[in-house]
Amino acid sequence: MFDRLKKKWNVNGLQLTMILCTFAIGGSVTGYTARKLLGLFSVEQRWLWILIYILLLTIVWPIAVYLISFPFGQSPFFTRYLKKIGKRFFGSHKSSTAKTAAPLEINQTSKRENAPVFKKAETAEKAENHRLIAIFASGTGSNTQKIIDFFRNSKTVKIALIVCNKPGAGVLNIAKNENIPSLLIEKDRFFDGDAYINELNRHNISFIVLAGFLWKIPPNLIMAFKGKIINIHPALLPAYGGKGMYGTKVHEAVIAAKEKESGISIHYVDEIYDHGATIFQATCPVLETDTADSLAERIHQLEHQYYPKVIDELMNRK
Ligand code: GRF
Repeated sequence: MFDRLKKKWNVNGLQLTMILCTFAIGGSVTGYTARKLLGLFSVEQRWLWILIYILLLTIVWPIAVYLISFPFGQSPFFTRYLKKIGKRFFGSHKSSTAKTAAPLEINQTSKRENAPVFKKAETAEKAENHRLIAIFASGTGSNTQKIIDFFRNSKTVKIALIVCNKPGAGVLNIAKNENIPSLLIEKDRFFDGDAYINELNRHNISFIVLAGFLWKIPPNLIMAFKGKIINIHPALLPAYGGKGMYGTKVHEAVIAAKEKESGISIHYVDEIYDHGATIFQATCPVLETDTADSLAERIHQLEHQYYPKVIDELMNRK
């Protein structure tokens, strides 16, 4: 049942717990408030008491759950949820307003100008069905750019947040240019605080993609996004992975060991560096003339070619 709810609402386990708590507390607060309010008046007839009670519940409940959703970090979910309920109640009235509003606008402006108005409304509605991804990156962000490009027009997946630990990193510019919210994170909160889980929940993130993110992912974040964090490593794991094995160091080690082949590994993230289950690997030759830079370039091409596709595949699978 919980898995079905998680899927339906597109949330992780922690979010679901917070949402259910909000519902439970919101429900109790609503009942309590409605009874207190009714106590202010002396309603004699039983049927009238029940009628007013139901009316009060209907009015108080959305206010109560919405307010309570804030301390639980679930206000974006409840904003959408209450909007949906609102649409269900007043939907027919609203849609008929929309239908009549459109021809009016057409009369006021040209049909051509009006067309995007419909498109925008459609896009906004579809955005509600997107699975939202956060990309964690510390560097230039060439993979991040490729992933953004790949999902730019996707109807199911949206890159909703760029998380970065390095002020001035190139990936922050990408976020700015692409109009994607970015989050500059600090060590203390990441490793000794909530690991920004509340922030990720606030953005309704359901999947995390590491693309050149150099900090180790803390256990609480791994637990909160169990099986939903992946990483890309520029070598064929389990070889040339682990602490300190990143960037040029990986390629230097591959060349020093006179390997004939290197490649990329996309894997789930667990508590150990470059250790989680492998999802995908692709290989490329290591030439005798290769330097760390030339090998890095070949590896980058592989990454750009496959990382977005693998993410897409995973999104469709889950
Ligand atoms: C990639 O080579 C990736 O394998 C590693 O970090 C690098 C990030 O590169 N984890 P970029 O910032 O995406 O260009």
